[in-house]
Parts: sequence; C-alpha cells; structure tokens
Amino acid sequence: MKDSHGRTIDYLRISLTDRCNFRCIYCMPEEGVCSMGHDEILRIEEIERLVRVAAGLGIRSVRLTGGEPLVRKGVVDLVDAITGMPGIENVSMTTNGVLLPAMIDDLKAAGLSRVNISLDTLDAEQFRAVTRVGRLEDTLAGIDAALAAGLSPVKVNAVTVRSLNQDFLAFAKLSLDRPLHVRFIEYMPVGNTEEAGGTGWGKADVIPSEELIDIISEQARAAGLPALVPAAKASKPVGWGPARYFEFPGAQGTVGFISPLSRHFCSECNRLRVTADGKVRPCLFSDDEYDVRTPLREGDDGAVRDVLLAALGAKPDEHHDKVGTERGMSQIGG
Ligand code: GTP
Ligand code: 5AD
Ligand code: SF4
Repeated sequence: MKDSHGRTIDYLRISLTDRCNFRCIYCMPEEGVCSMGHDEILRIEEIERLVRVAAGLGIRSVRLTGGEPLVRKGVVDLVDAITGMPGIENVSMTTNGVLLPAMIDDLKAAGLSRVNISLDTLDAEQFRAVTRVGRLEDTLAGIDAALAAGLSPVKVNAVTVRSLNQDFLAFAKLSLDRPLHVRFIEYMPVGNTEEAGGTGWGKADVIPSEELIDIISEQARAAGLPALVPAAKASKPVGWGPARYFEFPGAQGTVGFISPLSRHFCSECNRLRVTADGKVRPCLFSDDEYDVRTPLREGDDGAVRDVLLAALGAKPDEHHDKVGTERGMSQIGG
C-alpha cells in the first residue's frame, strides 16, 4: 500500500480503549478521561474485520495500544484472531506492564509477537508521582514476565523530560545483562501540557536526543563503561517504528532514541492509526479523521476498504511543526 508521497504503509496502530489503570500526569487528568461509551468503541469482532481488510491492502504489522490495551475485555481473543490472519507478520502491544504477569502466558499462546513497556523513571516515589496511582514494582514485574515468557524483543519506552532528572545511565544499563531494548523518547508537548494549563510538562522540558546521547555517553565514561556505538545490524530489535538504536559493546540489548521533535521522521512514516471509537487517523498530529465504524457496522468489506484508502490518500507529507491535537495521547494510542 503506497500513499500519495510514495511511502509504503504497512503498519497499523489500533487503540483498544482510552481507559487506563494509570493516570500519568502528561497523559490524563487525575479524574481520568471522560471515557467513550460502550457503543462508541469498536467491538472485538469489528476490529478483527478491520485488520483482515487492512491486511488485504498490505498491512503487515499491527500494534495494539490504549489507554492501556490490557484492560480491554477480549484482548487475548483479538490477539488470537489477528495473529493467524494471512499477511499479518507481527502483532505487538504497547502497555504499562501491570497486567502482564497475569496475562503473558495467554497472550503468548494467542501468538503475541512482542511488547513495548512504558516506564519513565526507575525511582519508586517518582514513578508514583508521574503515574499518580502506579507502583514501580508492578511495571518491573511486567518486564520480568515478558522476558521470562521468551517474548522477543522486549522494549522499554522512557519518555524523557528535563524536570524529572531521570537517571539515564541506570536506564541504559538495563540493556547490559538482559536482552532489553531501552528507548528514550522525546516528550511531545501535546494535550495535557503546561502551556495548555494541564498537569503535563511544557516545551522547555523537551530534551533533544542528540543532547541525551552525549549526556549518557559522558555518564558511561565517568562510570568506566565504554561509549554507546551505533547498533550493529544483527543487534537491532525487530520493529516498525522510528527508533534509532545504539549499544554498549558486548551488551545483550540496545539503547534506542525516538526523536519526534528534533529529527522529523515523517518521510519514513509507514503507519495509519485507528482510535478506539473507530476513526482512522492519517497523522498523529492532525485531527483529520475518517470514520470506519459506520462501514464496519453497516457496510461490506469494500466500504471498509474505501475508508482505509481515503485515509491513506490523505496522509500529509509531514506535520509541518504542528504538534497540537484535539485528542489526547490516551485516545490516539501514541
Ligand atoms: P516498534 O518500533 O515497532 O517496536 O514500535 P513503535 O516505536 O512504533 O511503538 P511504540 O508504541 O512503542 O511508540 C514509541 C514512541 O514513538 C511513542 O512515544 C509514540 O508516541 C511514538 N511514535 C510512534 N509512532 C509515531 C509517529 O508516527 N509520529 C510520532 N511523532 N511519534 C510516534
Ligand atoms: N510524548 C511522547 N511519548 C508519549 N507517550 C504518551 N504520551 C507521550 C508524549 N506526550 C508514550 C507512552 C507510551 C507510548 C505509546 O507513547 O509513554 O510509551
Ligand atoms: Fe496510561 Fe500510558 Fe497514559 Fe500512562 S501514558 S496514563 S500508562 S495510557
């Protein structure tokens, strides 16, 4: 599937719910989001059908996101249904990890290829402050469970901001002894930001990845570790996303950087997104949306295909410095 700018689109990100068992300060207000009604969100069978039609058009990788995808009832059945579909090569999930210890065996048996686990700080008190309700040990247990179940690769997503004073080296060192792929993500000041009067951080808090690479390399040197080097092809984890990977020589995992602000990756964009209420979004940063729920409920596969193709045709060449959207991250799925 090619868009009008010549990019191959083979990655579909589907938000299963806007609900979450955390309340991260940059993602949600304390009381949670005004959740979508039961009838508004796509049913599991509707998502299955959507993926089948999308696979027919050339989608090869599906990522289930949220909110928190594991709080959605029927998620294991959904994984089971879409992993077997012709054309689908990879089914992954972005989760806060809390429910992984209880669910990982079922998810693995259903065919889940891999998980990305969100973890922004290794300090227990700070973890509680950022997530408002979460416990660090629960997310760490989720990471352990994913590794123990043999999912591969297991990635850790850490959103970075100046005012948190995160221990970047401690994060990077998680890649040394276990096959963990730690990715530092530039905070995108959208939604619940300081500028918008929200509880998230502001623009001044963004740490450009190049600066962070220098900081970590300097900290590594001071700690007697070798500097980060670009990861060898064989070390790079499977992925459909925009991360750039580095490694400490001899480490089992890698250290990745995702730079949505300092290094636009629009020219390599390979994805479409679907919100939990069945809107296809051509771009994370644009509120242009295409309703696929109506054809999923009332139309045939051809009508579903037409909506996907309309969204494909509407993919902009880049987001032109627009980083605001009417929907928050918990509704779009990041
Ligand atoms: P893989 O590389 O396949 O493992 O996945 P991924 O990195 O695409 O997915 P993940 O959900 O772990 O996303 C990591 C970070 O990248 C999150 O902060 C996302 O919001 C961000 N991200 C993913 N896709 C895009 C995109 O198209 N544009 C921007 N600006 N950010 C994105
Ligand atoms: N900027 C960068 N990453 C974000 N995420 C959520 N909100 C933001 C933001 N404003 C991350 C989550 C999760 C992934 C899906 O997106 O931490 O790892
Ligand atoms: Fe939940 Fe992720 Fe939002 Fe935190 S960032 S509240 S874990 S959806």
